[in-house]
Amino acid sequence: MASSAQSHASLVEFGQKHVTKGLGRVVEAVITKAEGSYVTFGDGRQMLDFTCGIGVTNLGHCHPKISKAAADQCMNLVHGQCSIAFHGPYLELIQKLLPMMPHPSLDSFFFWNSGSEAVEAAIKMARTFTGRQNIINMQGAYHGRTFGAMAVTKSKTIYSEGFHPLMPGVFSLPFPYWHQLGVPVDTPSSKMSEMCLNQLSLLLSQATAPHDTAAILVETVMGEGGYVPAPPEFLKGLREICDKHGIMLIIDEVQSGYGRTGKNYAIEYSGVRPDIMITAKGLANGFPLSGVISRKELTDKLKPGSMGGTYAGNAVACAAAVAAADVMKEENILDNVNARSKELFAALNALRANPKVAPAILDVRGQGLMVAVEFASPVGTGPYDAFRNPSIPEKLASRVAKRCVEKGLLILTTSVYEVIRFIPALNISKEDLAKGCRIFAEAVEEVVNEA
Ligand SMILES: Cc1ncc(COP(=O)(O)O)c(C=O)c1O
Repeated sequence: MASSAQSHASLVEFGQKHVTKGLGRVVEAVITKAEGSYVTFGDGRQMLDFTCGIGVTNLGHCHPKISKAAADQCMNLVHGQCSIAFHGPYLELIQKLLPMMPHPSLDSFFFWNSGSEAVEAAIKMARTFTGRQNIINMQGAYHGRTFGAMAVTKSKTIYSEGFHPLMPGVFSLPFPYWHQLGVPVDTPSSKMSEMCLNQLSLLLSQATAPHDTAAILVETVMGEGGYVPAPPEFLKGLREICDKHGIMLIIDEVQSGYGRTGKNYAIEYSGVRPDIMITAKGLANGFPLSGVISRKELTDKLKPGSMGGTYAGNAVACAAAVAAADVMKEENILDNVNARSKELFAALNALRANPKVAPAILDVRGQGLMVAVEFASPVGTGPYDAFRNPSIPEKLASRVAKRCVEKGLLILTTSVYEVIRFIPALNISKEDLAKGCRIFAEAVEEVVNEA
């Protein structure tokens, strides 16, 4: 036991020395195994996982049916290469996904590896479909770390600091989130949507003319910007403006999609039709796979060879995704998401009502199992932040997350605000969800009262 702990420590030291410092880490440890909602580390610690590898292993780590499908595919065809021929799992996956699309017009698929690459492809498509260059994105948006995706990412400067110049032609719109807008927490979403849509009209008359604007790019639930669902009226307003001016509406469902919010895709809550939709993360439950989906009438404008990539739509990843789509149905995953979501909100709202911690909690929000708690802060984002509260302890989100880890719950912060995000597996049991909520509540009470 002692020697294995020792070798774990030396392995961590090796990693710290030889893995680039450009990566951040929540736990200085080596994950050796993961199953369902639990991960095990080389030092023997086992943790309840409320991160799912950042919203990826949505059907639990190493789901037996998905792992088996991938293993079987490995013995048949690993790499078919999408520019050489079709392969079975690629086409079978499209067959599974077609009925899950939020609108029947979404009938043309291109699979990539990561969310960032899919964002890049979506931008290229929007430019081709419209013959225009500019992209309107959201303040606080996260779309990835590659160059095009980085240019439309506005959640934290760390993603672009030192890497400029970025892709030009990007114009940012405020997002209907009370903290960004400096309006009271209980401001109706219809009011915030109006404010932002008015800003969009200004942007289109002051900064990027409609005839220069290829696309409006929006996350259905803003992830890295604070886990803020886009109000349906805001999305409907974007759709109307896009229709009026022939602008493409690109919906990024990388994190919010594939059951995470209790619908197949979160855009369904608004009934809005995307021109281009991006999906990734949970799609193959841990195997690298993303998708860009649009309508054939548009994608027929793409020249053969303009899309593609060596590993795009890998056969093993597609086979895993086919199995994941089956599991979503067979295990009634959406029902579990909606049932567990109610319990999660009930637990977090009960915590918020606890007088010992109430002043420290500004907001509980989200959809399905994409949920956040926002804490107050003594400094906020600066001297003009309307929500600064000097009587609140500092850095609550990161301190609570650290305390949760010490207590055996792996959980993540998000955004430049004091936000903790809950992204448990979509098939998490009632008991494990309750256990995680108990640990979180304990951690909040302890940290808030430590001052
Ligand atoms: C909404 C959204 N878009 C795009 C990305 C980028 O995906 P990837 O990290 O797979 O490149 C992410 C990643 O977190 C995301 O949350």
